[in-house]
Amino acid sequence: AFPLIYRNPLPIPPVKQPKQIITNPVTGKDIWYFEIEESFFQQQVFPNLLPATLVGYDGMSPGPTFIIPRGTESVVRFVNNGQRETSVHLHGSPSRAPFDGWAADTTNVGQYKDYYYPNFQSARLLWYHDHALGFTAENAYFGLAGAYILTDPAEDVLGLPSGYGQFDIPLILGSKFYNQNGTLKSQLDEDTSTWGDVIHVNGQPWPFLDVQPRKYRFRLLDTGISRNYALYFARSTNTNGKLPFQVIASDSGLLDIPVTVNTLFIAVAERYEVVFDFSQFAGQQIELRNLPDVGGFGVDDDFENTDKVMRFNVASTPVTDPSTVPAQLRTVPFPPETAGIDHHFEFHRQHGQWLINGVGFEDVANRVLANVPRGTVEIWELENSSGGWTHPIHVHLVDFRVISRTGSDRGVEPYEAHGLKDVVWLAEGETVRVEAHYEPWTGLYMFHCHNLVHEDQDMMAAFNVTMLED
Ligand code: C2O
Ligand code: CU
Repeated sequence: AFPLIYRNPLPIPPVKQPKQIITNPVTGKDIWYFEIEESFFQQQVFPNLLPATLVGYDGMSPGPTFIIPRGTESVVRFVNNGQRETSVHLHGSPSRAPFDGWAADTTNVGQYKDYYYPNFQSARLLWYHDHALGFTAENAYFGLAGAYILTDPAEDVLGLPSGYGQFDIPLILGSKFYNQNGTLKSQLDEDTSTWGDVIHVNGQPWPFLDVQPRKYRFRLLDTGISRNYALYFARSTNTNGKLPFQVIASDSGLLDIPVTVNTLFIAVAERYEVVFDFSQFAGQQIELRNLPDVGGFGVDDDFENTDKVMRFNVASTPVTDPSTVPAQLRTVPFPPETAGIDHHFEFHRQHGQWLINGVGFEDVANRVLANVPRGTVEIWELENSSGGWTHPIHVHLVDFRVISRTGSDRGVEPYEAHGLKDVVWLAEGETVRVEAHYEPWTGLYMFHCHNLVHEDQDMMAAFNVTMLED
């Protein structure tokens, strides 16, 4: 058994500070300039064993959290002092193609690249992570992932639980294997998936958090590299009573209304923000747990403690809670309705490779699977025809609406339907339709499975947002 379950406090990634704020003379707007270094660090995961040697942004994992006000452009210099080539993707950002982390656009050790991010979107949780060709899984597994939060006055006035690290808390999930001596087991299963038997939150295995008896906003992000979760809250003393909570936001920011559930499915790269109210649990312990067999929708391997995520110790002294969750959160900019399937993509396995419509990213002559005229709204049909596997499918550049899910006995979850997303969970046998507005830029962008082992092996392709009608 792992010796440290619920023994260590939840770390909160520090906020990344700009190195300089520059006023652009053309636009008159501020640009926040950051420098961040991909570097080695050691983490003592097991108290009496060797530390694990990892590589993280600014020598930590998750990396520091960027908190950027909507409308403030940023330039981030990523300096590679790690172990191999890297490419950085700001997941969820409509970055222009040269700054989107194209897998083959790698930066070697000892070099840097400056990435420009527009930040014009509404408030949301994005994340930055490695995207290097063939090494995304390894680089992310060693630690190259972090949170990037956009804030927006329209969200601030809602009165949701707030204060980064205080009542607004990132919960960044990751699952890894370690060797007997305490070091990271870095031999990834090249073929299928690396599930991991140690669940981390913000880099710490099975942590605890001391909370007040009031509402908290938790920003959940699954960094993988392969594991998906069916999460629920329960009292420590109760083996299966699931407690209700509200989902308020997904990949692309706030839902239109809060959705009350008692279980949340979250696949690799998905983000969900939830509000849990601890006020009725003063003096008790609440746990965040994971259903076995991913609640029946996954093939992820279960291990002795993968049903546990973290624990909350609720203080016994009552507090006043000024926060609220309004019944209406915002008007979500759903794409205008359209009909017909514009593209059909099958995610399948062939000759030991993971492919999309028979193509992998290394197939450079064939990997552009769609031309999409800029400004059009399209429906893409995504079909999982790989047998018993889950594929969390991510489309770069756009936010999409999940319009249907068939082939299993669940439909579109209410927290999927009430907002926009950029990753969708395709469980065994499922077909999902997603609708998006392909804007604002032209350019070549990737779409892929976000099980990072599948992505590297080679379930990734491209689409071209064009100026022309065909
Ligand atoms: Cu989160 Cu193409 O990546
Ligand atoms: Cu996959």
